[in-house]
Amino acid sequence: MKALDGIKILDFTHVQSGPTCTQLLAWFGADVIKVERPGVGDATRKQLIDVPGADSLYFTMLNHNKRSIELNSKNETGKQVLTRLIEECDVLVENFAPGALDRMGFTWERIQEINPRIIMASIKGFGPGKYEDCKVYENVAQCAGGSASTTGFRDGPPLVTGAQIGDSGTGLHLCLGIVTALFQREKSGRGQKVSCAMQDSVLNLARVKLRDQQRLDAGPLKEYSQFGEGVPFGEATPRAGNDSGGGQPGRILKCKGWEQDPNAYTYFIIQAAIWEKVCDVIGEPDWKTKEGYAKPPERLDKLNEIFSRIEQWTMTKTKFEVMDICNPHDIPVGPILSMKEISEDEGLFATGTMVKVDHPERGEYLSVGCPIKLSDSDVQVERSPLLGEHTREILESVLGYQGDELAQVIESGAVGDVK
Ligand SMILES: CC(C)(COP(=O)(O)OP(=O)(O)OC[C@H]1O[C@@H](n2cnc3c(N)ncnc32)[C@H](O)[C@@H]1OP(=O)(O)O)[C@@H](O)C(=O)NCCC(=O)NCCS
Repeated sequence: MKALDGIKILDFTHVQSGPTCTQLLAWFGADVIKVERPGVGDATRKQLIDVPGADSLYFTMLNHNKRSIELNSKNETGKQVLTRLIEECDVLVENFAPGALDRMGFTWERIQEINPRIIMASIKGFGPGKYEDCKVYENVAQCAGGSASTTGFRDGPPLVTGAQIGDSGTGLHLCLGIVTALFQREKSGRGQKVSCAMQDSVLNLARVKLRDQQRLDAGPLKEYSQFGEGVPFGEATPRAGNDSGGGQPGRILKCKGWEQDPNAYTYFIIQAAIWEKVCDVIGEPDWKTKEGYAKPPERLDKLNEIFSRIEQWTMTKTKFEVMDICNPHDIPVGPILSMKEISEDEGLFATGTMVKVDHPERGEYLSVGCPIKLSDSDVQVERSPLLGEHTREILESVLGYQGDELAQVIESGAVGDVK
C-alpha cells in the first residue's frame, strides 16, 4: 500500500513548478492524470532536446509515474470530458498563466459546483496585488523573492542559484498544501483552494536574509566577512559571498588540485564547539588560548585571516581527504560535489535518491528519485508517459466512456490521435 493510494489527481500542470508537485504526489501513490494539449503536450517535452525525436530530459525527469491524456479543454466535447475528470478527481493542480483556467470556463466557483470535495491547487508567480497578472519563470521568482539580491559577492551583480527554488521550491510548498487540505477534508468533507505564489515560496526559503535585514537596525552583521574587512553596511541585507547563513562562520576554501579542477573546494565551518580541534588540525594550537582568537565573538573581525590560514591547510589535501580528517573530529565540512560526481555516487543510488530509468524513446537515463523517504510507502520510479499514451485507458477506466459515447469523444477531435 502507498500513502496516497486511491487519490486521483487531475494534473493540469506544465513546465517545472507544477509538475514537481504532482510527481511527488505520484510517488506517494496518487493516480496522477496529466492533461495535455493534443499533438503538443507540455512544452518541456520538446525543450532542450538531446535525443532527436524523444521526449527531453527536462520533461522525463519531472513527470515520472504519471499517466497522460490528450485533451483540448477549449473544445466543447473536451470541456465535457474535463468536467467528468473534475467529478472523478480529488485534486486539480494547475500552474497556468493567471486567468487561463477562467478563460477555459473553469473558475473556482464552477469547479466547486462540479465537485464540492475537490481541492484546487494553483501556482502563480505572484500573490494577489499589483503583479498578480504577470507570467513568471524561475529566475524572476528568485529575483522577486529576495534570493538574487542576497546571493553572490558584494562587489559583483546579484546572482541566481542553480537550485530551482522558484519552480521546484514552489512545487514542494504546493504539495504540502495539497496533502494538508486532503487531511482537513477528512474532517470537513469539503475541498478548498490551495494557492502558492513563487515569490512567496522563494521568500520563505530566503527567510534568514529577512532576519538579517532587521538585525541591521541593531548594528553591523558581524558574521559577514565585510564586517572584518571594515566595509560599512548599507540599508539592505548585502550579498555575503560564501559566508555561512547561520551563527557559525563558514567559507568555501580551495583544496588540492583547485588550479585544474573547478570543484576542488570544500565548505569549512568553524563551529564554536570544535574550535580547539580546528586549531589542532591546521597546526595553530596557540589559537586555542590566544586572546582575540579563543572566543567566538573575538574571531569575527578576523575571519579573512582565520580562513586564509585554514585554506593553507585545505590546499594540501583533496576535498575528500579534508572530509576524512575533519569528520572524526566532528568538524562540519563538505566537499563541493560536481554533478558528475553526484551522478556516479553509489550511496545515492543505494537510497533511491538517484535512479536509472528506462524509456522507450531515449533508452536509459539518470534521474533524481523521491527525496522524501516514507518507511511504509515505498517508491518505484517509473518512466514518464508518452504524449497521450493513456488517453483511451483514462476515458474508459476512469471516466467510464464506452461504445458510441467513446467513439463520439474520439471523433470530436477533443482528445487528439488516440492510440
Ligand atoms: C509558465 C508560464 C509563464 C507559461 O506561459 P505560456 O507558455 O504562455 O502558457 P499559459 O499558461 O499562458 O497557457 C497558454 C495557453 O494554452 C492554453 N492551454 C493549455 N493547456 C490546454 C489544453 N489542454 N487545451 C487547450 N488549451 C490549453 C491555456 O488555456 C492558455 O490559453 P489562453 O492564453 O488563451 O488562456 C505561465 O503558465 C505562468 O506564468 N504560470 C504560472 C507561474 C508558473 O508556474 N511559472 C513557472 C513555470 S516553471
